[in-house]
Amino acid sequence: MISRHTVEPYRVGEVSIPPGETLFFMVGAANRDPAVFPDAERFDVGRHPNPHLGFGAGIHYCVGAPLARVEAQVAFERLLHRFPEIALGQDGFRWRKLVNLRGLQSLVLSPARP
Ligand code: HEM
Repeated sequence: MISRHTVEPYRVGEVSIPPGETLFFMVGAANRDPAVFPDAERFDVGRHPNPHLGFGAGIHYCVGAPLARVEAQVAFERLLHRFPEIALGQDGFRWRKLVNLRGLQSLVLSPARP
């Protein structure tokens, strides 16, 4: 979720929003917008083009995005190098109960396929 505070009248579609309001944007929903992404619900790491909003957009675009990408690349490469047969474990996963920052509370993996 990304939030913004209006300092002047703002219009979204047919809705007029006055100054002094706080708006919450559901980035997760935008990243599954079927008008933008073909087969939007499918997890596709090779999707191209991929105009997702995971790092925001515009003037406040995440300054740490290049670092986050390198960290993720190193972490997944090392993980998959060490456990090439990794699979979802029997206990599966649990989501955190946060509205503003979606993520996993726990993810149980099995190092080899059963
Ligand atoms: C997977 C990891 C990350 C995700 C998903 C992420 C996501 C985001 C998003 C969505 C925004 C935009 C917020 C907005 O528009 O209100 C943002 C901004 C920002 N991020 Fe990240 N971020 C990540 C990692 C990092 C890292 C590693 C750093 C610093 C080392 C960082 C520093 C920042 C800063 C300083 C901003 C504010 C930029 C601005 O307002 O101009 N982020 N991030």
